[in-house]
Amino acid sequence: MTHRPTVITFDTASLDGRLTIAPDVLLLYGDERWPVTEDSSGAYRQILDTFKPQVTLEGSGSFILEGMEPEPLPPVEGDPAPLYKDFLPEAVLNRPNQDGWFTIVDGRGRVRWLYTGEPGKGYPGMEGWHLLVCVGHHTPPEYLAYLRRENVPYLVAGSGHVDLITALEKLSAKLGVERVLSTAGGRLNGALLRAGLVDEVNVEFFPGIIGGPETPALFDAPALQPGEWPTRLTLLACQQFDNGHVWLRYRVNG
Ligand SMILES: NC(=O)c1ccc[n+]([C@@H]2O[C@H](COP(=O)([O-])OP(=O)(O)OC[C@H]3O[C@@H](n4cnc5c(N)ncnc54)[C@H](OP(=O)(O)O)[C@@H]3O)[C@@H](O)[C@H]2O)c1
Repeated sequence: MTHRPTVITFDTASLDGRLTIAPDVLLLYGDERWPVTEDSSGAYRQILDTFKPQVTLEGSGSFILEGMEPEPLPPVEGDPAPLYKDFLPEAVLNRPNQDGWFTIVDGRGRVRWLYTGEPGKGYPGMEGWHLLVCVGHHTPPEYLAYLRRENVPYLVAGSGHVDLITALEKLSAKLGVERVLSTAGGRLNGALLRAGLVDEVNVEFFPGIIGGPETPALFDAPALQPGEWPTRLTLLACQQFDNGHVWLRYRVNG
């Protein structure tokens, strides 16, 4: 069997499992109603320090809302086939600081990047991180050409959606990745969970309830079908903080 990295998830959520304030709110841009900050508990920092991820994973949903039109890209001239090969430029692979990959699943090629190298700059311990995008054979060629122009490495896996199993296997085989921390929203983490790719779940709950049936929530996977069972977990740790936050750590039962 091809080797796959260990994958753990970390999210901050309201007690009712909501990951943001409302369907049209991307936390990336901040919202004063969202009560979790880096200092709320230190859980995220502790995970970085102990787990030492080589990849942090996000979905395109953290950067662009569904229904929002991404900025158009110029058409590709000539044969697009060569674009559908993994793009791992030597200059990025051999950069002086190679601490990790800020990895985004973006099969539909919707996210435009203002900042490609060292997204962790100014963030202690994450200076040597570089953007990497997971795409598929269904990704528009214009987007792959754009990533190449911007010198953003990418891995091609699957069709229809990014094949998460293949993407993780490529991260291991091509980049030596052993540890992945997914801080994605509910749909990507839900897909990872349903594909049996999550080893550990971490949630920092804050004492608040948001509601909203359309508001992104923890593990927004498709509904269980008859005969499918809930994912069973084993509690590894539970940490309570003075501000009422609780950090739960669960191992996903194999
Ligand atoms: N509180 C927190 O800790 C936290 C963390 C992260 C995000 N958020 C918030 O959560 C929201 C985003 O969450 P979301 O659930 O909308 O987005 P998301 O988790 O980013 O999920 C969408 C991404 O998952 C991919 N995906 C979905 N199903 C898949 C499958 N079966 N196989 C492979 N890839 C699949 C999609 O790919 P396609 O393009 O192919 O569909 C897309 O890239 C935002 O509001 C953000 O601010 C909160």
